Amino acid sequence: MTEIRWGILATGGIAHAFTRDLLTAGLQPAAVGSRRLESAQAFADEYGIPRAYGSYEQLVADPDIDIVYVASPHSHHHEHAILALEAGKHVLIEKAVTLDAAEAIAIRDAAQARGLLAMEAMWTRYLPHMRRIHELIDEGVIGEVRTVIADHTQKITSDPDHRLNALELGGGALLDLGIYPVSFAVDILGPATEVRARGRLGETGADTENAIALTHASGAVSSLAVSSRSAGPNVAHVIGTEARIDIDRVWYTPTSFRVTSPDGTVIEEYTSEVEGRGMQFQALYAEALIRAGRTDSDLLPFDESIAIMRTLDDIRGQLGVAYPDRTAGEH
Ligand SMILES: NC(=O)c1ccc[n+]([C@@H]2O[C@H](COP(=O)([O-])OP(=O)(O)OC[C@H]3O[C@@H](n4cnc5c(N)ncnc54)[C@H](OP(=O)(O)O)[C@@H]3O)[C@@H](O)[C@H]2O)c1
Repeated sequence: MTEIRWGILATGGIAHAFTRDLLTAGLQPAAVGSRRLESAQAFADEYGIPRAYGSYEQLVADPDIDIVYVASPHSHHHEHAILALEAGKHVLIEKAVTLDAAEAIAIRDAAQARGLLAMEAMWTRYLPHMRRIHELIDEGVIGEVRTVIADHTQKITSDPDHRLNALELGGGALLDLGIYPVSFAVDILGPATEVRARGRLGETGADTENAIALTHASGAVSSLAVSSRSAGPNVAHVIGTEARIDIDRVWYTPTSFRVTSPDGTVIEEYTSEVEGRGMQFQALYAEALIRAGRTDSDLLPFDESIAIMRTLDDIRGQLGVAYPDRTAGEH
């Protein structure tokens, strides 16, 4: 397989950002699908994409695409990922990978049954500064990692109709923003073994602020703050017995960090030089997996995405957030 051809499913905000980054990296968006043909055509015209479809069904049926990037709201990821897998396409699925763990398990099983790649588009994992942080931890530079602290706090909108506040679209700060620090804590410390969460719900019943405390298998702990109504520092810290890593704002995008020993000596300063928004690294990684005939990511195995969804289900139950047709935290 020479060039891998991407199908873009949906034409919302993140579909634009991702397509720009595909082009930045010289990758090939080959087709786009939308619920409305005019929207698909306008998107295709903007980025020079050869084929535009007025339904997702037509998109996934295109024989000349290899992988579908699912960029619909998380309430629809399960349906759209299964649609693409059943059409024989690999899938890169926006975060949160689904609404809950049960839906994520169904996607994993559908992908495995067909020998196709399923990967959550948690792009932060694939960024160069995150890979360097892993090297430093693996080399023992910061000693035993005992604590992770991170916030994802943005002042977005209180509009009840916006996806973020609409429960029927999986609205809430947790699945949109909270997944970043939860996924990061799991990336550094392993799956959560104990989950404690307190939060605040907005006018629609979707959560707007969360304070999350996790214990991880090694006994290490993480402390995470999430808000969709107020902008905080958006920094993260990985704290070990021999040194700490302070990741600058905005920690989940390409950024800089410092490694500092307990006496204040700076051991390493890292600066990111990344073109575009940084979403291309996950796409390049997915392409490498497909070329190698692999169906799962080493950096975020699908079972880890499922474990993260279980943790989010637990948090949602503790917050009392219930999506239509589901009880709080049901999974
Ligand atoms: N990685 C990141 O940095 C990042 C940032 C923001 C969002 N996201 C994730 O990306 C996903 C989409 O977010 P977004 O901000 O792009 O949302 P958005 O701007 O609202 O776009 C969502 C798109 O999904 C499609 N869609 C299908 N069914 C829909 C329905 N029932 N209601 C509304 N839209 C529907 C629509 O495309 P058509 O009209 O073309 O069919 C719509 O434009 C979410 O899961 C979100 O968590 C990721």
